[in-house]
Amino acid sequence: MFNLYDNCILTYSLPNHKDIKEKILNSLSKGYELEDKSQSISNTDYQKDLLDSKQDTWEKDNMETAHNREYFKILYDSLQKHFHPLLSDHFQVAEYTLTNFWYQQYKMNNRHDWHYHGGTNLIAVYNLELPDAKFKTQFYDMFRKKDIEYIANEGDIVFTYAAMLHRSPPLISNERKTVISMNYNLIQVKNDMRLK
Ligand SMILES: [Fe+2]
Repeated sequence: MFNLYDNCILTYSLPNHKDIKEKILNSLSKGYELEDKSQSISNTDYQKDLLDSKQDTWEKDNMETAHNREYFKILYDSLQKHFHPLLSDHFQVAEYTLTNFWYQQYKMNNRHDWHYHGGTNLIAVYNLELPDAKFKTQFYDMFRKKDIEYIANEGDIVFTYAAMLHRSPPLISNERKTVISMNYNLIQVKNDMRLK
């Protein structure tokens, strides 16, 4: 089941994380080093060039090649089996889409500053490699003006609404961190949804 923090951050431990971790790491698609004023990431397949074009086009172009990426096939099978049924049930959705995903690998001093994700209403991050949980994704509560405290470890999927400001803090460690980010759109509520 899901754990809930501050009424907005949800976490879920993927039950077969240990079985798929090495398979995913060994099949990551070719990435590149992403370095600009807001981030320093040693390896990612985030399609920055396409992001310079229209957002809608980028999402579409990205997803056209998405399911050819071996690493994501492995994860997607697990998501379909374990996570997505719970997600659908929790939010009572009849229809949703996974609109985008990418991986990011952080080494010593790497970081990704505060940001939002556009074109989505639910964001999720799978902690594929997280040797030290203090370097997990940080979320900021704009209403109470404070960081949100929550517990997450390697193998956990952390998810929340897309209007949640977040960052990957500077990694001060020689142990690599790897995440897979996912953008979802929850589109349609179930017809028989009943508010209690
Ligand atoms: Fe992000």
